[in-house]
Amino acid sequence: MKTVIIIPTYNERANIGPMLAALQKQFIGMAHDMHVLVVDDSSPDGTADVVREVQQRCANVHLIMGQKAGLGVAYIRGMTHAMTDLQADVVFEMDADFSHKPEDVPRLMKEIDHGADFVIGSRYVPGGTIPKEWGLLRKLNSWGGNLVARHVAGIPRVRDCTAGFRAIRTTLLKKIDFNKLRVQGYGFQVALLHAAVVRGGRVVEVPVDFIDRTHGESKLGLRDIFEFVLNAWWIRYNSLKTFIKFLITGASGVVVNLGMFTLLLAMGMNKYIASPIAIEISIISNFLLNNYWTFRWRNAKGGVRQKGLKFNAVSILSLGLSYGTFVGASIAFPELPPQLNQFLGIIPATLVNYFLNSYWTFKHVEPGRGE
Ligand code: GDD
Ligand code: MN
Repeated sequence: MKTVIIIPTYNERANIGPMLAALQKQFIGMAHDMHVLVVDDSSPDGTADVVREVQQRCANVHLIMGQKAGLGVAYIRGMTHAMTDLQADVVFEMDADFSHKPEDVPRLMKEIDHGADFVIGSRYVPGGTIPKEWGLLRKLNSWGGNLVARHVAGIPRVRDCTAGFRAIRTTLLKKIDFNKLRVQGYGFQVALLHAAVVRGGRVVEVPVDFIDRTHGESKLGLRDIFEFVLNAWWIRYNSLKTFIKFLITGASGVVVNLGMFTLLLAMGMNKYIASPIAIEISIISNFLLNNYWTFRWRNAKGGVRQKGLKFNAVSILSLGLSYGTFVGASIAFPELPPQLNQFLGIIPATLVNYFLNSYWTFKHVEPGRGE
C-alpha cells in the first residue's frame, strides 16, 4: 500500500532533518511503499530548505508550500495532495517535533493491515502516556479538550480525540468533504475524527508515549482553543439536527401507515390485506425521506447499492414483525379498533428498524479494539 506520512511544519528547522532521517530508518523494515509529505507554510526559519536538501537524496520525500492559515488548513492541503497527486492508500498525521515517536509508525500501520480505517496513536488508553513534566494546567488543558470532544461533539468511545498522530485509509478519507469541516486550526483533529466515525470508519486506538518537544515551541494558540470549543458545539448541533429529522421521518411514517390503512379499509379492503400494504408504503416513504433528507450527506460516495440492499432486508424483517404483531393483536384483541392493532405493530418494527439501520445500514460508532 502506498502510504504518505504528512508532516505539517511551521518553523521546525531544527526538527525536520532528524525526523526525516528517523522515518527513513523505520521505513527499511516495512512492507509498504512509504513516503513523507512535508506541508510547510513558508516557515521564516527556512524549514523548507532542509527538506529540499533531503529531497536530493530521497525520492520518497515530497514538499508542498503554502501560507500559514492554521494546522487544519495545512492538513487539508496535505491530504488532498496525498490523495490526488500521490495516489496514497493510507495517510499519516504526524508532528515534526518528535512528540510522536518514529518507532511507533510500524505499530500504527499494523492496525491498518489488520483492517482498521482510522488508527489513533493514543495517550489515553492503557499503556499510553503523557509527559511526566506536564504541569497541572497542561494536563487539565488536554483532559478538558478530550472531555469536550467526547461529550460535546459526541465521540464518547474514543479516548484520545485530539491526538495528532494517526493513520487513515484514503478510502475513508475520500468520503469526507473537507469543505464541510469548517475548521482551520487544531480543531481539525476532532472534526475529522467525528466525520470518520459517522461515516462508519473502523477506529482503533494504539497506546503511545507522547514526548515533549525539545526544539522550538508549540503553535497552539488561543484562537485554536476558541475555534475548538465552538466547533464541538457546532458538531453537536448538527448531530441533533439529524436526529430530529430522523424522528420527523418516523412520525411521518406513522401518519402514512395509519392514513393508508384507513383509506384502504374505507375502500372496502380486508384488514389483513390492507395492513401489510399500508406498512410497506410507509417503509418506502421512510426510506426515501431518510435517504434523501435525514442522511443525505452520508450518501455522498459509494456504498449506496449496498445500503439499499441492507435497507431492503431490514424493511422485510420489520414488515414481518409489524404484520405479525398486527395479526397477533387482532386475534388477541378482536374488539379493539383495527387502527390500534396496526399501531401496536409499529412499535417493535420501529425499534428493530432503528437499531439495524443505525448500527448496520448507516453504521455509526465502531468501538476501538483494546478498550
Ligand atoms: N504548515 C503548518 N501550518 N504547520 C503547522 C501549523 C500551521 O499553521 N501549526 C502547527 N504546525 C505544525 C508544527 O510545526 C508541528 O510540526 C505540528 O504542526 C504540530 O504542532 P505543535 O505546535 O507541535 O502542536 P502541539 O504539540 O501543541 O500539539 C500536538 O498535540 C495536540 C494534542 O494535544 C499536535 O499533535 C496536535 O495535532 C494535537 O492536537
Ligand atoms: Mn508538538
